[in-house]
Amino acid sequence: MDAGRRTVLTAGAAGAAGLVTACGSSGDRGGSTASAPETSRGATPSTGVGAASAAGSVPGGEALAKTSDIPVGGGKVFAEQEVVVTQPKEGEFKGFSAVCTHMGCTVAEVSDGTINCPCHGSRYSITDAAVVAGPAPQPLAAERITVTGDTIRLG
Ligand code: FES
Repeated sequence: MDAGRRTVLTAGAAGAAGLVTACGSSGDRGGSTASAPETSRGATPSTGVGAASAAGSVPGGEALAKTSDIPVGGGKVFAEQEVVVTQPKEGEFKGFSAVCTHMGCTVAEVSDGTINCPCHGSRYSITDAAVVAGPAPQPLAAERITVTGDTIRLG
């Protein structure tokens, strides 16, 4: 919503020649830009917050998965979002960072009750991400997830 957009010209990078870029603050009115998108067109009834029916971009969290995608006693790695979601007990979902605390690899899989890093073999508990094995110095960071109905969202 910045109406007065300024174009900043950077003068070269190897400033050996006497080119001084003076970022003067005087007179920085960007002319008369008449773009005012504030006007609401028509009388659109705004049924805003709270409707859980909108699929797609819902404010407050990216939909990660369905609850049925997460096996009980296991979990799933969402590498793109760098999140692991586990379900230690039926109906109990946990979110953790998928970034290994050892050297930052993305954990690869969840099996036999642990979240496993392929790089040096660290394993984390699906319950609380505590280090079960390997060189990892500390548990995976907790990641906030929200379960609404059968949808798991980030945040
Ligand atoms: Fe995960 Fe080393 S980076 S075990």
